[in-house]
Amino acid sequence: MAYWTRMELGLTPLIQIEGATVFRGATLVFENLSLTIAQRCNVAILGPNGSGKTTLLKVLMREIYPVAKTHSVVRILGESRTNIWNLRSQFGVVSSDLQYSYAEQAMGFETVLSGFHGSVGVWGHQDFTQKEREQAKAVLMQLGIHKLADREYGSLSTGQQRRLLLARCLVNNPQHLLLDEPTSGLDLAGTFEYLATMRSLLKAGRTLLLITHNLNEIPPEIDRLILLKEGRIVADDTKSVVLTEKNLTDLYEQPVKLVVKDGWYQAIPG
Ligand SMILES: Nc1ncnc2c1ncn2[C@@H]1O[C@H](COP(=O)(O)OP(=O)(O)O)[C@@H](O)[C@H]1O
Ligand SMILES: [Mg+2]
Repeated sequence: MAYWTRMELGLTPLIQIEGATVFRGATLVFENLSLTIAQRCNVAILGPNGSGKTTLLKVLMREIYPVAKTHSVVRILGESRTNIWNLRSQFGVVSSDLQYSYAEQAMGFETVLSGFHGSVGVWGHQDFTQKEREQAKAVLMQLGIHKLADREYGSLSTGQQRRLLLARCLVNNPQHLLLDEPTSGLDLAGTFEYLATMRSLLKAGRTLLLITHNLNEIPPEIDRLILLKEGRIVADDTKSVVLTEKNLTDLYEQPVKLVVKDGWYQAIPG
């Protein structure tokens, strides 16, 4: 039995999906997908474009529902009908979808505040307490981006927007971070800064579910690695067992060579 399965004994799984069949429009993305993720385990799901990664995130966040079937379940921390607001405050989600759809005219500080309501931008009817404002400021300081508070979201670089959205999800002090291709579109400095922030959050006890097609952004702290191909899990084990040249060559249908250093992985053409 894999160690994360043992670890989960006595603890409710963070995520439990059984027999989920999911369509997006007319596309069948998952057929009978089953996946259990324990609490306190850092997991990365790696798969090529179109393999279903973002769809999985949307299923977890209850933006998309599987086809109703007798034996299918999607449970988060043991609950199949979690209140969406509770769910979204327990999970800090940052995705490029959110980045692109976020309100251009929102100010940086408002962007962070909007995390309390899980909204895009802030609205006249939303009141924020002094405590919430202080918390938003504290997170901006923590991430070293307090200077972005007075800038318009739409005027910021991809990296600055991404960090603001990370701050936005951190105001709720979520235990679990759910990041979808967090460094895509960032330059080297932006990527390294983002990875450093991610690692300091992990050191502070948060757990990470990372969804990516990019080996470079998998931090050494990731324990378990799942390979997703065309909506199917084709490998699932400890990171060092799964990340082999053979598995990656099969996954991407391209010859892949691996470079491993200091717990980081990099793919080069085989
Ligand atoms: N809104 C949509 N309507 C129809 N099909 C979609 C939609 N979004 C994604 N798909 C399809 O679902 C599959 C999985 O997509 P997605 O979950 O976005 O993959 P990934 O995040 O791994 O790149 C792809 O075949 C994609 O074309
Ligand atoms: Mg995606």
